[in-house]
Amino acid sequence: MEPARSNQANQLTTPEENDHEEEILTGLRKNQKTISPKWFYDTEGSALFERITQQPEYYPTRTEIDILRDNRAAIAAACGVGCVMIEPGAGNCEKARLLFDAIRPTAYVPLDISATFLQAAADEVAAQFPWLRVHPVCADFTRDWSFVDDLPAGRRIVFYPGSTIGNLEPAAATDFLRRVRGLVGADGGLLLGVDLHKDRDILNAAYNDAAGITAQFNINLLSHLNRALDADFHPQHFEHSAFYNADEQRIEMHLVSTKDHSVRCLDEDIHFAQGETLHTENSYKYSPESLNALATSAGFQVASSWFDEQQLFSVHYLVCAP
Ligand code: AVJ
Repeated sequence: MEPARSNQANQLTTPEENDHEEEILTGLRKNQKTISPKWFYDTEGSALFERITQQPEYYPTRTEIDILRDNRAAIAAACGVGCVMIEPGAGNCEKARLLFDAIRPTAYVPLDISATFLQAAADEVAAQFPWLRVHPVCADFTRDWSFVDDLPAGRRIVFYPGSTIGNLEPAAATDFLRRVRGLVGADGGLLLGVDLHKDRDILNAAYNDAAGITAQFNINLLSHLNRALDADFHPQHFEHSAFYNADEQRIEMHLVSTKDHSVRCLDEDIHFAQGETLHTENSYKYSPESLNALATSAGFQVASSWFDEQQLFSVHYLVCAP
């Protein structure tokens, strides 16, 4: 095996904030104001998300970790050893760490939008797995795929856990999976974590934890915009709202304006009526059947699936359809 080049993570640069301006304004000018959930994740927001994953109501993270831990031998058998493992939105890289000893990748490429957070996590991975080449890339993978020009050589596996795919509209999820299929090619694969449909009370509780961490996470998006864009959102004039939309099969998160007011953002006055919302996130839930249909629509086929006993969450290994 090729030795790890270095135990140190690579240098990181933050993506340009300005190419986001048009995207943000387009969302804020809509009738239903909307913004990409990627704006949750500044350093503060990434830390808040980590705290969400520790809340008793938020079952996805610990359930997925149990699935990965309980099935790592089978997962490694499905994925094959000695791949380049690419993880979009890697965060603290906690889940990949569970698999490294079983999958023995030659290189690990964590991608994340938050540079500080990613650097710290990548350094820890490099220290914990001295044999592993760690190649972190700070990138907004929802827009910029230039990282593919700079990947270590080898068979590619994309690891996309956490039901991050649930943030995408079904059509966008298909597009994303098609790109992933192109990236991993005929001999690669996609290890995908997907949250499942379930009783709506369980879903609603998971996004309305009693400690109010999800509310803080949601509201921090406004502080992030203030810091990054010099906007003047007043976080105290917004309230957290999260609910299961059964027709769309998704959790929706919104920030509800508690009064009639205007906000200055990117040289534009954005008006919020009392009760008007900024839609900050969708989190789509799948059934094994709808996940299968999604995979097929992108030219993948589901090779193996793993579930927890209560069927709360699922992990799937997808390969190119013949
Ligand atoms: C990281 C997108 C999977 O949808 O459950 C958690 C984000 N938002 N609580 C999710 C989130 C509110 C999370 N994902």
